[in-house]
Amino acid sequence: MTLDTTAAVTAIAAKTKRRPKIAVILGSGLGGLAKDVQDATRIPYGEIPGFKRSTAPGHAGELVVGTLSGKDVAVMNGRMHYYEGYDITEVVFPVRVFRAWGVRTMIITNACGGLNPAFKAGDLMVLNDHINFMGVNPLRGPNDDSLGPRFPDMVGTYTEGLRKLAHSVDGDLREGVYVAVAGPNFETPAELRMLRGFGADAVGMSTVPEVLVARHMAMDILAISTVTDMATGIPGQIEHVTHEAVLEVANRAGNRLADVIKGVIARI
Ligand code: HPA
Repeated sequence: MTLDTTAAVTAIAAKTKRRPKIAVILGSGLGGLAKDVQDATRIPYGEIPGFKRSTAPGHAGELVVGTLSGKDVAVMNGRMHYYEGYDITEVVFPVRVFRAWGVRTMIITNACGGLNPAFKAGDLMVLNDHINFMGVNPLRGPNDDSLGPRFPDMVGTYTEGLRKLAHSVDGDLREGVYVAVAGPNFETPAELRMLRGFGADAVGMSTVPEVLVARHMAMDILAISTVTDMATGIPGQIEHVTHEAVLEVANRAGNRLADVIKGVIARI
């Protein structure tokens, strides 16, 4: 089911004259970029009809509209996750609102566990594909043909030009496949081995729902993960993951990720 975006767009447009073509969703511990937005109008999610409050630690819960690298942007400082208990249509609602407001390009970030043994904590990974293993799909239900097709093509979802741009800004970025799980528990060692066997390079609890609706509406998409821990699942090498450790690594990698995003926006 697609929720009506009219009231949300009206509420945002009443607070700012800007009409950004680019929106950024900031993941766990990656809020630093929101402080770099210039001439910012900060709109708490509570003032936007249909936006839910992000209850996850490290997610501020405000839409920041202003400029980054000289371009108009809307930055979601904090996202909604399926594991928080929201309906999946509520999780993706902001992306629907952005498109109705005129946004064309989505830049989406997250914190994830690394499955590819060549990765290490602190790496940044550009997504080139995904596996939806969440067990839900935000496109389920009646299709609004005015927004996009019933059966969206997923080949080329992660826009090649944007991926190349990201690599040109930072030559040390990894690239790979992200598998999304519902969470909220971190994976068991057996699950990690299975997910690696699927062909995934990283695992996390977000991003894929937003990507699905952005793709449905033919938006350009760049998604970048911060590998916050190596979720190996190798017997005898089991790493215990805590949310505190995830936030710590995400915060440390945050400045570098912010530089990548600002560099990409400058060149779009
Ligand atoms: N698994 C799932 N989600 C995550 C992880 C992880 O290991 N680290 C950060 N987000």
